[in-house]
Amino acid sequence: MSDRLIMKLRVVSARLTTPDVLVLDLQHPKRPLLPAWTPGAHVDVMVAGGVRQYSLWGDPEDRAYYRIAVKREAGGRGGSKWIHDHAKEGSELHVSAPRNHFGLDGKGGRHVLVAGGIGVTPILAMSRALAAGKADFTVHYCARSASEAPLLDELRTVCGDRLTTWFSQQGRRLDANTLLAQAAGAELYTCGPNSLTAALETAIAAQGFPVELYHREHFAALSDADFVPDSFEAVIASSGRTLHVPADRSLLEVLRDNHFVRGSSCEIGVCGSCECGYVSGDVIHRDAVLDLKARASRLMPCISRARGTVTLDL
Ligand code: FES
Repeated sequence: MSDRLIMKLRVVSARLTTPDVLVLDLQHPKRPLLPAWTPGAHVDVMVAGGVRQYSLWGDPEDRAYYRIAVKREAGGRGGSKWIHDHAKEGSELHVSAPRNHFGLDGKGGRHVLVAGGIGVTPILAMSRALAAGKADFTVHYCARSASEAPLLDELRTVCGDRLTTWFSQQGRRLDANTLLAQAAGAELYTCGPNSLTAALETAIAAQGFPVELYHREHFAALSDADFVPDSFEAVIASSGRTLHVPADRSLLEVLRDNHFVRGSSCEIGVCGSCECGYVSGDVIHRDAVLDLKARASRLMPCISRARGTVTLDL
């Protein structure tokens, strides 16, 4: 489980914003202020049989409540369905303190934000901050249609004519190569389905867009169903001790077995809570959290593996 503060928060508002997206406002029953957060942050929500991550998209200055949006995922693992069925006004949810792997860089300059579907939540919070700071930014929002685009009105209010919508039912699809050409020199942030980020990353590689300007957030595990795990060795740099990681076990499980305590939450490479460092090795990164720069020295042991031997900096 997460090593973060876990709070029992009360649902003070629960409303559908589209037929399959539920917006929840969460308050602490006793404390007037919740832990601070910054745009791009998410919280872990405990659900029956697991944990799910949801971005905060309310106003960070208003710490009286957290606001999240939960899409009912028909083919998901059941967590979103559980929240839709159980989160009513007056009910309580166990929620972690926020964590942010997707913060704005704060360097100024131009920003291009790309949202797909429910991935709009962190993009909305970022847009609000950029608009408040009078930053130079544009937002692209991809969805099937306006009626299936959660929080579209809120995003329009924040962005005005900085917002471009791409609704596939109208035959309008975002072209990743065109977007990247327009985004030259800008910080590029994206949150959405794997198909969207995969298209952007293909274009990034083809055009040589600087990876340090690219930031992404996923809330679904990367789909690599063809991946066949192999065994490998993990060396603990501080002691020289070697641990064998069999093909059918994760590095995180082996670390735990050997009393290297690590926080964890999702265990599918999307929350970032198990992150650790490494100093050498051919790592097979399978997480959806670390950007290309971070992957040079960090890995997610719940999902990522290595070829041969990896030396860990714990
Ligand atoms: S436990 Fe969530 S990324 Fe590893």
